[in-house]
Amino acid sequence: MTTHNENPVYPPTAETIARAHVDAAKYDQMYAASVADPNAFWAEQGKRVDWIKPFTQVKDVNYNFGEVSINWYADGSLNVSANCIDRHLQTRGDQAAIIFEPDNPEEAAQHISYSQLHGSVCRMANVLASMGVSKGDRVIIYMPMIPEAAYAMLACARIGAIHSIVFAGFSPDALAARVNGCEAKVVITADHAPRGGRQTPLKSNADAALLHCKEDVKCLVVKRTGGQTTWIDGRDFDYNALAAEASDSFEPAEMNAEDPLFILYTSGSTGQPKGVVHTTGGYLVYAAMTHEITFDYHDGDIYWCTADVGWVTGHSYIVYGPLANGATTLMFEGVPTYPDASRFWQVCEKHKVNQFYTAPTALRALMGQGNEWVEKCDLSSLRTLGTVGEPINPEAWSWYNDVVGGGRCPIVDTWWQTETGGHLMTPLPGAHAMKPGSAMKPFFGIEPVVLDPTSGVEIEGNDVEGVLCIKDSWPGQMRTVWGDHERFQKTYFADYKGYYFTGDGCKRDADGDYWITGRVDDVINVSGHRMGTAEVESALVAHVAVAEAAVVGYPHDIKGQGIYCYVTLMNNAEPSDELLKELRTWVRTEIGPIASPDVIQWAPGLPKTRSGKIMRRILRKIAENDFGSLGDTSTLADPSVVDDLIANRAGS
Ligand code: WT7
Repeated sequence: MTTHNENPVYPPTAETIARAHVDAAKYDQMYAASVADPNAFWAEQGKRVDWIKPFTQVKDVNYNFGEVSINWYADGSLNVSANCIDRHLQTRGDQAAIIFEPDNPEEAAQHISYSQLHGSVCRMANVLASMGVSKGDRVIIYMPMIPEAAYAMLACARIGAIHSIVFAGFSPDALAARVNGCEAKVVITADHAPRGGRQTPLKSNADAALLHCKEDVKCLVVKRTGGQTTWIDGRDFDYNALAAEASDSFEPAEMNAEDPLFILYTSGSTGQPKGVVHTTGGYLVYAAMTHEITFDYHDGDIYWCTADVGWVTGHSYIVYGPLANGATTLMFEGVPTYPDASRFWQVCEKHKVNQFYTAPTALRALMGQGNEWVEKCDLSSLRTLGTVGEPINPEAWSWYNDVVGGGRCPIVDTWWQTETGGHLMTPLPGAHAMKPGSAMKPFFGIEPVVLDPTSGVEIEGNDVEGVLCIKDSWPGQMRTVWGDHERFQKTYFADYKGYYFTGDGCKRDADGDYWITGRVDDVINVSGHRMGTAEVESALVAHVAVAEAAVVGYPHDIKGQGIYCYVTLMNNAEPSDELLKELRTWVRTEIGPIASPDVIQWAPGLPKTRSGKIMRRILRKIAENDFGSLGDTSTLADPSVVDDLIANRAGS
């Protein structure tokens, strides 16, 4: 470590540089080429995947508000499942494609070879086809972290059907909204999802959701635990029975590069979650390239990303990127602390993991348990460490670096979003020094700009701060919001014309390195999970006792941000501990456990402007316990409201 402008700086070790695909000189040369001539650069990178019909066009993008359209490799055709499986069969048919590590460490891990993966995906594709799924149809996947979740994704891709994964922690209501939102034909689920020694009744959640969906939506049920489920003949299909009878070959469909591959619902600052649409060709090229370069993945490595396939990280960096590269990707069903706080490290030791990718929230939780849980495991196989989802604090970074990585392993702090399909900014192992908490440098082809939030003008030079936009497109970018291109344009291209607006603030330091400063909109980040405060508010006001609610984030030691709710009750309702508990449960059932409020404060009134707009800035300050800098409150309709909220701040 050295220091520079008071920041600790960790240059890459000689060993890391020697091994890396990309060193500093190569990064500079490739980056310059990628922005000077994107067509030439991405035409070359397009060769990473096998095309059925090769592309002749590369980039065709319009960022003008009102006419936004994004196309890459638009006249090429390919199949994602063939790229992730079939093309590896000759060279690595017997190599493990997936290592499955179950929740319960006593249960045997499974090594699924590329040949076996091929057979299972084809069988799943045949089962789905027999249920009426064809090219362009939508399929919802609501699954535990088991190999069948990956089979389901790849089977959809093989057919050309569009999958939309709903994280198994979401409630029946949230599931129903997504089934209806994309008019899915089939929901794939499992009987139960074991996690941390407990079980989520997925099938019964799906049953509850399907009550709110069209009658012809079918349900394909994978057996995980063998636990009891209710069954509706004609609607419910037994995956294990059908797959046993199904053929193990299925011709991959020829898909246009711009045909949708998947929809993934994510929270925004307003309204209900939006269906982010990713397409086939550009997405796969970008996922494969970033997986290889960011993690410095080499043939034969064992790679583990601890995310869930319910999030974009699981799509790009458990399934599509690694499998496109012929990697061995580890799928873990459990949680970091079950049966104890050494589970992650036990799994690293057991499977000799080379690249390990996780979220800061997990590191913070484990760090608190003490070093002995790490130190008793042999972590000498580790080479690259990664983090994702939220800013990492210097303490957690140092712990990861020293205790987990033994000071040998570069840490890639990858900044990206559901919308971006893959990493946009990250240090690269052999090319860049690391600064704890900094996403450092743009990936190839990415031109970050820092804008003045009010004027929207680019701030040039270093040592500056503003909102983060991206100047031009990259192949992995989302193409639209499912069924609502207008919303797509309004969300990402309206506020700062001619740019993609990320929703994040950022700082470019004196050296020109990037630091994400957090969301500048009403989106909060709870344990690396993205949550729209508006969603929690609408869940709260749906309760009979609640008249009004305002939700903000506040700093939380483990989760990064916690959920702080100000609730105004109906006249006929009385604040009580029971009601508080009831509201918490209510939000959990409306959205899911990840949206569970950390704090609920009874608010007789909310601070509003004379035009009735809630002043969230003030609510955020109170939640942060920062009363000294409330700013201008003179425009409030009733300034005394603020005094009451301060006096009765929850926990004070
Ligand atoms: C938001 C996107 C990308 C997969 C997981 C989250 C925040 C993401 C970082 C990072 C600081 C980060 C941003 C971003 N974020 N990675 N390395 N450092 N902040 O995807 O749910 O779409 O959330 O997560 O605020 O906008 P997502």
